[in-house]
Amino acid sequence: MADFTLSVEQKNLRELAHDFAEKEIRPVAWELDKEGTWPQAIIDKAHEVGLMNTHVPEEYGGPGLSYLDGCLIEEELSWGCSGIQTSLGANGLAAAPVHIGASHEVKREYFDELIGSPVLASFCLTEPDAGSDVSGMRTRARRQGDTYVLNGSKCFITNGGHASWFTVYAKTDPDAGHRGISAFLVRKDDTVVVDKKEDKMGQRASNTATITFNDTEVHARYLLGEENKGFKLAMMTLDRTRPGVAAMATGIARAALEFAIDYSKQRVQFGVPIAMHQAVQFMIADMATKVHLSRLATWNSAVLLDQGRRNTVESSHAKRFAADTAMEVTTDAVQVYGGYGFIKDYPVEKLMRDAKIMQLYEGTSQIQRLVIARETLLPRRVEQPAAATA
Ligand code: CAA
Repeated sequence: MADFTLSVEQKNLRELAHDFAEKEIRPVAWELDKEGTWPQAIIDKAHEVGLMNTHVPEEYGGPGLSYLDGCLIEEELSWGCSGIQTSLGANGLAAAPVHIGASHEVKREYFDELIGSPVLASFCLTEPDAGSDVSGMRTRARRQGDTYVLNGSKCFITNGGHASWFTVYAKTDPDAGHRGISAFLVRKDDTVVVDKKEDKMGQRASNTATITFNDTEVHARYLLGEENKGFKLAMMTLDRTRPGVAAMATGIARAALEFAIDYSKQRVQFGVPIAMHQAVQFMIADMATKVHLSRLATWNSAVLLDQGRRNTVESSHAKRFAADTAMEVTTDAVQVYGGYGFIKDYPVEKLMRDAKIMQLYEGTSQIQRLVIARETLLPRRVEQPAAATA
């Protein structure tokens, strides 16, 4: 059966997230964007009302919401401000490999923390010379008895400057390419150096930092999944989180569409509101279609996960289409505003800047096309990694 009708609970959840975005995020979003101010008060409040860590299972004290539920929340919060939503949602990315690969005890320890207080965690995959090409990473983890010792640097790490712990990917067998990468749960200590808060084009209220590990010791029980199976864990994580990014992109595009609709009804040129001109109507129509299809592709990719099915190609379809849509629709919203769209006193230039990262993080639009092409030309079966027992 194909049915995208939301349940009463899902509608309530969406309303809760929308109210939060309208009352707590929108009123300050443009101000926080100016100086790149960290939204700690919003994070504290979102944690209090249960809009963070939504996928932590009930057995670990979390709400155990579905992936579709998560997408409903992510679209609304991102409609408020995608930079602030990036800060609120990054725990989900860091926690996904823990969910897939950690032992019961480790999950209890770390999920308890996330649920108990507004603690933040970061996902550390990217390196200066290893962005799209994950297996080019240089960070090393050497086994010494019961511990691993980590050395190396990760860049573009969301929430890096505020995280209490990190899920870190490192080479345990440097000669084995993608088959020599392992994942670890690393707590912040004196050996973990955070620097270079990036000065970004958009999503300026989010924190993006470089994290360096200097002889950082991690007990073997914090190995996530099996040794040398970290690459697949990273890919499985991204399959689970890309629907959320697609939902965020949909939220940005929807915000831009709404601003453009309102403006086109007020702005008078040639004696009538510009919404009366077919040139503008057709732009609005295309924007609306793209937002609608982004949401459908996003929900489809999330529902497959909720059904326990593999969603690699659908999550790449959704992420690619919604990200490109966000860029196109925000650019068109600026066009509808005309010269005013280019001015910071008006809301849409921020959305256009924010939209750009959607085509870059969690896999560029080109990487999504690569995944889609491979999965389409040569579909493959993928085994699930076992949880760590060390
Ligand atoms: N699930 C499980 N296994 C998978 C998989 C998936 N979705 N995709 C690939 N694999 C497996 C393959 O089956 C293969 O297995 P074998 O070893 O058994 O052969 C193995 O992984 C290697 O696969 P590929 O040959 O396809 O690997 P590749 O080196 O060509 O890379 C890639 C594929 C799609 C380009 C991948 O590297 C990729 O997704 N790159 C983008 C990385 C990315 O998204 N980075 C974003 C960082 S996170 C971020 O932005 C965070 C933030 O703070 C916001």
